Amino acid sequence: MTTKKSARELSSLKGKEPITMLTAYTAPIARCLENAGIDVVLVGDTWGMVEMGFSSTRQVTMDQMCDHIAAVRRGAPNLHIIGDLPYGSDADPDIALKNARRFLEAGADSVKLEGPKIEVIERLHEAQVDVCGHTGLTPQTSANFKQVGKSAPEAERVMNEAKTLARLGCFLIVLEHIPSELGRDISQAVPVPTIGIGAGSACDGQVLVINDLLGLGYYWPPFSKQYLHLDKLITEAAQQYAQEVKTHVFPQSSKR
Ligand code: KIV
Repeated sequence: MTTKKSARELSSLKGKEPITMLTAYTAPIARCLENAGIDVVLVGDTWGMVEMGFSSTRQVTMDQMCDHIAAVRRGAPNLHIIGDLPYGSDADPDIALKNARRFLEAGADSVKLEGPKIEVIERLHEAQVDVCGHTGLTPQTSANFKQVGKSAPEAERVMNEAKTLARLGCFLIVLEHIPSELGRDISQAVPVPTIGIGAGSACDGQVLVINDLLGLGYYWPPFSKQYLHLDKLITEAAQQYAQEVKTHVFPQSSKR
């Protein structure tokens, strides 16, 4: 049986073994991830885009995130759950702490937030809330989903943000959609595990959005990998069902 890893245990994996993170939004998927031995699950605000069809993550609310954290906890009682603070929910230290506590009550073990929000992170740590940082592409505030850190000044900014997040005591740092060389340089420069999503293979761990891994959706980021094409399987199952109903094959008449 999987035993839940604490923030400290996850942090201590740097230099020992790559960390596996996936997103999950529902109980049955969370159950699969726990059974698969995934290290840590992120209830990400990507839910709004990959499951709700929103055009950005900015439409996601605290109430929705709490419902999904609770569902994931019911499905995976032994997985470390990171709850992703949605847009505006970490606007200042007081608001962030109130919302982080709501996440913990819903079943999360820690929270993630985007960007170097120094006072917010300090307040959360003072209140013993473990924080996962996130830099590179930060979708809540970015104008588009293009790669970040290609120019020298931008790369320096992302490097400095990662160093700030490490100095503040974040237990993991997500690096999203940056050049592989920058992912490698940051991973070497900070003592905290980096979790890459489109940040190259030199990161200390990797995260994928579960719908991208499953091939369930209509757009795949170039840096993602589809381990399945669930879209196709669902379509085929629905077609077979429709055909069987039309031809009176399903349901079979009861013999009882
Ligand atoms: O919300 C999310 O799923 C994320 C990942 C892309 C890291 O932040």
